Amino acid sequence: MEMQNQKKKSILSGIQPTGVFTLGNYLGAVKNWAPMQDEFDCAYMIADLHAITVRQDPKQFREQILSCYALLLSCGIDPQKSIVFIQSQNPDHAQLGWVLDCYTQFGELSRMTQFKDKSAKHPENINAGLFTYPSLMAADILLYQADLVPVGADQTQHLEITRTIAGRFNGIYGNTFKLPEGYIPKAGAKIMSLAEPTKKMSKSDENPNACILILDDKDKVVKKFKRAVTDSEMEVRYGEGKDGINNLMTIYSAVTGKTMDEITSEFAGKGYGDFKSAVGEAVADHLRPIREEYARLMADKAYLESCYRQGAEQAQRISRRTLSKVMKKIGFIL
Ligand code: TRP
Repeated sequence: MEMQNQKKKSILSGIQPTGVFTLGNYLGAVKNWAPMQDEFDCAYMIADLHAITVRQDPKQFREQILSCYALLLSCGIDPQKSIVFIQSQNPDHAQLGWVLDCYTQFGELSRMTQFKDKSAKHPENINAGLFTYPSLMAADILLYQADLVPVGADQTQHLEITRTIAGRFNGIYGNTFKLPEGYIPKAGAKIMSLAEPTKKMSKSDENPNACILILDDKDKVVKKFKRAVTDSEMEVRYGEGKDGINNLMTIYSAVTGKTMDEITSEFAGKGYGDFKSAVGEAVADHLRPIREEYARLMADKAYLESCYRQGAEQAQRISRRTLSKVMKKIGFIL
């Protein structure tokens, strides 16, 4: 008899290749993905099929997919430990996506807040893909029988509909899909805009000083933090009405591991200027190895290609099993 290994739980997550991660994407999500690799069986995917629900320039799109892949590796995702792949390189996603379209109700898709928001934002291109985005995302997750999906608040509705679709399919054909749970990593920090600290940090912010990109060089990082909005007090203390300082403390804590109390004592009697410089320096120091690794990887396209090809193969080895089961149950001839 085979030795039964204690099976780790599996995780699948996807990220759209829409440009360099912000410090918010990084501290809120991607930074926590690296330590998860030892605890779980992880698969990380560049969701490029999802990205064409918005028009993309071909040359830029190709670069962004590769760049996003390299960024994941630079942030500590290890292709030896995890499956790191590009969604469009595993055709099973598109195929199961279509199948699940037929098990997803028009009414359910109409109620998705992301669809409503995005169609309001791009009234000139409300395409069918934007509408059926959730069934493709359900396919991403269900193909791998993922136990857990790390999601931010904006994606919980997508996870909910994934469970609905899976439950419906299981109800008709018998147990086929595992129902995934959301997973909130312990250390996820919500990072706000440096210019308007009640708003989430976003790369689409018009004010370039509002947002740190993880490939920003030291000079840029320090300058942006110097301009960060604070308050009229003079106390580095976490508290109500101190959104700017709270945000800077959250960032400083995330990159140094210091607690809020430790930070307050470190800057007791010092001005906000000193504090903002310290945060800027600490963030720049933290980002330096990521930036260096990214440059190294982007200069070695052959290595990157070997990683994503291997990732797609590993991914399809798993997804094939689920897809075949699904096709057979529905009655397709295999
Ligand atoms: N919709 C997700 C986002 O925009 C990206 C995504 C696509 C995803 N497929 C996924 C996330 C599967 C988790 C699991 O952020």
